[in-house]
Amino acid sequence: MTADIIDGKAFAAGLRARVAAQVGECRARHGLTPGLTVVLVGEDPASQVYVRNKGRQAAEAGIASNEIRLDAGTGQAELLAVVAGLNADPAVHGILVQLPLPPQIDAAAVIDAIDPAKDVDGFHVRNAGRLAVGLPAMVSCTPRGCLMLLEDQLGDLSGLDAVIVGRSNIVGKPMAQLLLGANCTVTTAHSRTRGLDAHCRRADILVAAVGRPEMIRGPWIKPGATVIDVGMNRLDAGNGKTRLVGDVCFAEAVEVAGAITPVPGGVGPMTVAVLLSNTVTAACRQAGVEVPAG
Ligand code: GUN
Repeated sequence: MTADIIDGKAFAAGLRARVAAQVGECRARHGLTPGLTVVLVGEDPASQVYVRNKGRQAAEAGIASNEIRLDAGTGQAELLAVVAGLNADPAVHGILVQLPLPPQIDAAAVIDAIDPAKDVDGFHVRNAGRLAVGLPAMVSCTPRGCLMLLEDQLGDLSGLDAVIVGRSNIVGKPMAQLLLGANCTVTTAHSRTRGLDAHCRRADILVAAVGRPEMIRGPWIKPGATVIDVGMNRLDAGNGKTRLVGDVCFAEAVEVAGAITPVPGGVGPMTVAVLLSNTVTAACRQAGVEVPAG
């Protein structure tokens, strides 16, 4: 059996088009232009690419997109002052401080300083807590994108066994909350889980977000399972170039799984599309208007 390939790139393009329609409706009905500001501290090359993509795709969807670049030596107080200014600016509905931050900055304190209503990353403890207790929240973009792909592929997820490999605040933990909310039976495994392969083999839904290249092998996968690979690991291709691989050994998994996301072109494009969707939601909530259906 060869797995269906879940085309995250195409799904994300559709989502961006729906977000653009929502932005058009916000403008026409309420004179509301959703605004997103991304803050980048330092010159990390990968972060620069991510931030450029976020800005370009936001602008293409009609979102008022701004980027604040601060040098790598920026201090904590200076960054907190920038965040306070954005919190107070009514034209800014979404704030994203690109991670990782330089070592002199306490990332948790910065996230804590962002107005939870403008926290389009869903990283603030208020949003993480609201998600955990089932209240409306801004939800972390990557796991929300994974859930969209899963529901598109499988429909109702009720009763399915879901195993998440990875326990980060950005992906693993919110993914577990979302899948619980969708009535899955959820196991959160991680790099120190004993018998990880046996846990994985029980999964109808396997989400790999552990950050270890091709760690999850074909024989670990239950035949017919749906595999979501969040990993983005850059390996040396030997010819002076690099190649991007996931946390799942795709060549093996594709022979066993029922459906699988490729790397690249699976989960990756969903993250920015969901960020744009979160920005529209944040803008509508702040303006006290209904989020357009899109
Ligand atoms: N760095 C890598 N991914 C992300 C993300 O989704 N949000 C933020 N703020 N930083 C990141």
